[in-house]
Amino acid sequence: MRVLGIETSCDETGIAVYDSEQGLLAHALHSQVDLHNRYGGVVPELASRDHIRRVIPLIERVLADAGLTPTGLDGIAYTAGPGLIGALLVGVAIGRSLAYGWRIPAVAVHHMEAHLLAPMLEDDAPDYPFVALLVSGGHTQLMEVDGPGRYQLLGESLDDAAGEAFDKTAKLLGLGYPGGPALSSLAEKGDPGRFHFPRPMTERPGLDFSFSGLKTFALNTVKENELNDQTRADIARAFVDAVVDTLLIKCRRALQETGLRRLVAAGGVSANSQLREGLSTLAKELGADVYYPRPAFCTDNGAMIAYAGCLKLQAGAAEQLGFYALPRWPMSELVAG
Ligand code: KG4
Ligand code: ZN
Repeated sequence: MRVLGIETSCDETGIAVYDSEQGLLAHALHSQVDLHNRYGGVVPELASRDHIRRVIPLIERVLADAGLTPTGLDGIAYTAGPGLIGALLVGVAIGRSLAYGWRIPAVAVHHMEAHLLAPMLEDDAPDYPFVALLVSGGHTQLMEVDGPGRYQLLGESLDDAAGEAFDKTAKLLGLGYPGGPALSSLAEKGDPGRFHFPRPMTERPGLDFSFSGLKTFALNTVKENELNDQTRADIARAFVDAVVDTLLIKCRRALQETGLRRLVAAGGVSANSQLREGLSTLAKELGADVYYPRPAFCTDNGAMIAYAGCLKLQAGAAEQLGFYALPRWPMSELVAG
């Protein structure tokens, strides 16, 4: 089965074709970073308009790269949520309309479910079951994954997502948008001993997170110190160490509580080098294995949508012609495929 994937939930237009026999045939991405950078964050209306401009040319390019015409497709998968409503509606409307015109089925995909399945596109894909750490700009979740469509939420952030905390702290330090990768590089130059940030919610049992306090802690540290290059790097270092440590403590707990020995990390922040270093040390210590998507598939992309949609279509998913987009969509509402 060959599926076209369309991702437009936030500030990246991602398109791909996945073939259940041959794997990923082609993928392309248009990032809107330059468009939003000067505003210090994503401007939803600009995001929607840019998706409209990019989506059809990108689909044409990906089909050409895959050596396909629309008749070579068996289905279309599009992100229906969670995300920015206007941005989502572009992908949903285009996906549904093309499927109607091409007389093939189309299926709605949950963005975080697609992130979770992204490591399955790699050669060293994990077997089920595994624990998944989903760390993106909008969500931080620990899930037990027993198979496609069989997810159990173990814990999640009660306020800011890890990526959101990265971006807000980066902005505070004047690093632009999205600041996660820049903050991570700046932290490399920081002194780990100068500032100590808390590890939120690690003292009490459970697997939930809270990252908004760290951003406030960073703000107070900025106010209390003269901000030269070294101080900025030291604050970045203290922040990154706190986020990574907190994630590691909860991953350790999740592996111990579930008894599982496979850990998947996915979503934008799973591209972070300090987190990856920490997770591989943790995995070694626990005799566990850790899996990631390739860095380009940690952040938003069309390949993970095509893959997740392919699984759903293969499982017989069929949807009505009417369409929907859900800015908020808890994964607990997903029906097992
Ligand atoms: O998964 P994603 O592309 O979009 C959402 O679904 O939200 O994640 C984007 C988030 C942003 O907050 C970005 O700053 C963060 O992932 N991010 C990183 C790194 N690369 C992306 N954060 C820390 N270190 C990185 N290397
Ligand atoms: Zn995402």
